[in-house]
Amino acid sequence: MIKESTIKYEEYSSFSELNSDLLKLIEEAYIICEKAYSPYSNFKVGSVLQLSNNQLVYGNNQENSAYPSGICAERVALFYAGANYSTEKVKTIVIVSKGDLIEADTVISPCGACRQVMIETENRQSFSIRVILVARNEKVVIFNSVKDLLPFYFGK
Ligand code: THU
Repeated sequence: MIKESTIKYEEYSSFSELNSDLLKLIEEAYIICEKAYSPYSNFKVGSVLQLSNNQLVYGNNQENSAYPSGICAERVALFYAGANYSTEKVKTIVIVSKGDLIEADTVISPCGACRQVMIETENRQSFSIRVILVARNEKVVIFNSVKDLLPFYFGK
């Protein structure tokens, strides 16, 4: 039997279509993105989480000369939130990038390892995380759950 699964997501073509709360999160994500430590890839990623108490948690990619020791922006923010604000839920994650590793009209999309960590957070808190991906040309894609980005995920 063949089964089919579809995902729904929102797509906007410019920041002018977004509300001011979301714009503020994107603005913050670009500020933290600038502070990434990525001398090996020259690709900067910024990630901002909005928690249930509306506090923001920031992350950017941190690379290392021993390449696999580096870590993505999303996991920096998620693990920081897990370590310091474990009683708060993560409502939203915004991810932005700077650098020409990907096309200007392509949204930065989290790697498999980050998706797995995002799923763990979502399941642990029993609350769906809104995932907001941003392209350098202002295209914005919004998913209502991490599960939309990682179907058939591994979990307990
Ligand atoms: N990177 C992130 O921080 N997040 C992503 O979603 C994709 C990739 C980082 C890892 C590495 O430092 C650089 O971007 C190039 O892969």
